[in-house]
Amino acid sequence: MKLVIAAAILSSVIALDDGLARTPPMGWMSWERFLCNVDCKTYPDSCISEDLYKRTADLMASEGYLEAGYDHVNIDDCWSTFERDPVTNEQVADPDRFPSGIKSLARYVHNRGLKLGLYSDIGTKTCGGYLGMQDNLELDANTFASWDIDMLKVDGCFQDTDMMGQTYPELSRALNATGRPIVYSCSWPAYLDPDYGEANGGEVLKELAEICHLWRNWDDIRDDWGSVSSVIDFWKRNSTDDPFIQVAGPGHWNDPDQLMIGDNGLSHSEERSQFALWAIFAAPLIMSNDLAHISKESKEILLNKEIIAVDQDPAGHQGTLVWSSEGSGDGDYYGGETRVWSRLLNDGSYAVVLQNTHSMGTATKVKLKSSMLEGWGRRRVKFTARDLYAHEDLGEFEGEMVAEVWPSDVEMFIVELV
Ligand code: GLA
Repeated sequence: MKLVIAAAILSSVIALDDGLARTPPMGWMSWERFLCNVDCKTYPDSCISEDLYKRTADLMASEGYLEAGYDHVNIDDCWSTFERDPVTNEQVADPDRFPSGIKSLARYVHNRGLKLGLYSDIGTKTCGGYLGMQDNLELDANTFASWDIDMLKVDGCFQDTDMMGQTYPELSRALNATGRPIVYSCSWPAYLDPDYGEANGGEVLKELAEICHLWRNWDDIRDDWGSVSSVIDFWKRNSTDDPFIQVAGPGHWNDPDQLMIGDNGLSHSEERSQFALWAIFAAPLIMSNDLAHISKESKEILLNKEIIAVDQDPAGHQGTLVWSSEGSGDGDYYGGETRVWSRLLNDGSYAVVLQNTHSMGTATKVKLKSSMLEGWGRRRVKFTARDLYAHEDLGEFEGEMVAEVWPSDVEMFIVELV
């Protein structure tokens, strides 16, 4: 008896020190590509239905995605009915589009070695107008756990933001109490003023890290470079002391939203940029594409194991911008800039991304100086570099290396002190 009480107290104190999401979650989510298409008559292959998730699970297992680490298949909005079950008050999956139910879908996905994610909303309705969890947090947590789901994204539409400081932690406790390990993705901060990170000594960020495994901080990503660039600009944090950088780590991650790689709106260079930078950001790698129709080039980017290893580095430090041509008078022209990003890895080496945000011109020479890397000192030191897109060791450098970076493109390296 005493033991049970002790365990209960412990689990409510260290709610999320639960061994989940020790590295940023990876997988696939229906939202950006398939939105809330519920018209399965007209669009049998792209409506929100159990067929879509089964087909995706099959392809993730057979096409090398699971092997590379993408192990979640995540249902987003528009899977439920509009009314709760009149007898049990439970949420119900749309019977036409999910005739076997979510539990059976979970079994299908689990049988392929994958995990199933589900979506709901902390308010009275989801952003698409479907059932929300407000006033039923415990009931819904229990229902979802009984369906054997492994991850839950909880949106913040249709609820006053003043309530969220109570409701998101309450749901965290309810999920924890189910006894089923469920990765909890909170959209709470995406509904707050953008200065919430710094407000009240970073109070919300600290709370998030205690109650959620990941959280969306920013606008919805769309399949165009302007949208992806605006997300990247939000993450142009230039100090490891920045509260957003500080809060990321094993078990609790900033989520800059889905990968647009394999969709239609980004060029090859832009896809390379998104993937490299998401790895610098220690971001969840959640694709939203149609794996039945994806180019060889996009697939190759998504399956780049060296870049995935950076993203999944066990130390879990989120990287920062360490240099930018903006204001330096060095190449600051035609509305773009060149940038150097870095992320400290577990073994003491750095992942570095050299980025060219110009959208015109030819390749620009971008310089990485050893003095830009925290802890490497101000004098010139010797280091080796490996190119993560070319999969090539580049040899030894003293003090600096220079790479040519094309407009809207990046080059990515691991650099290590000799
Ligand atoms: C919000 C979220 C999106 C998606 C939609 C679903 O906009 O930010 O990621 O889940 O709701 O309606």
